[in-house]
Amino acid sequence: MNSIKIVAVPGSLREASLTKKLLFSLQALAPDDVEINVFELNDIPIYNKDVEDAGYPPSVLALRQAIAEADGIIFATPEYNGSFTGAIKNAIDWASRGGLLAGRPVAPLSGSPGALGATKAQQSLRLVLEHLGMYVLTRPQIAVPQLDKKLAGDRIADEQTAEFLSTWLTIFRDWIVQLNK
Ligand SMILES: Cc1cc2nc3c(=O)[nH]c(=O)nc-3n(C[C@H](O)[C@H](O)[C@H](O)COP(=O)(O)O)c2cc1C
Repeated sequence: MNSIKIVAVPGSLREASLTKKLLFSLQALAPDDVEINVFELNDIPIYNKDVEDAGYPPSVLALRQAIAEADGIIFATPEYNGSFTGAIKNAIDWASRGGLLAGRPVAPLSGSPGALGATKAQQSLRLVLEHLGMYVLTRPQIAVPQLDKKLAGDRIADEQTAEFLSTWLTIFRDWIVQLNK
């Protein structure tokens, strides 16, 4: 395998989203042979089987294509009311059709300005990814607490967090390579 393509999907739509910034910070922390493409969900409509039957909307086609072309997927979520966000669930619902997600390597990630890093959100996301038969990276599990204080723009300024994320990306890269052997 030459360069490894990862599509990274943030579960928040807002412009100043900490989750988006966390994903944009990953490229600088990834091994040299890993490319990370952040795919934002702002244009994805709510899943509707009638719409699917009439033909995937262009934004959904773009999401499905980005996932199909990637060697691995990162879903990053904040916590909304003790769970992962509707935006991520909706993207998963669209992407799951036709078995596109089954058997694909995936690494869940979470972060929050709070003290726990959206651990409950990540746990509930993991259950859905496992349900789909995805190959979910089991460890290390990264949930970044006080994310607002660890970012400087689109960069992780906190050294320890940067180190954790860098190691996590290397382990995910190795997991993808292993699964593709
Ligand atoms: C509807 C809603 C529910 C939330 N519920 C939780 C929660 O259960 N636990 C938590 O730690 N933070 C919760 N938060 C705070 C989010 O973690 C915080 O707004 C975070 O910055 C959102 O992610 P973003 O910056 O990527 O948009 C909630 C925020 C919203 C808008």
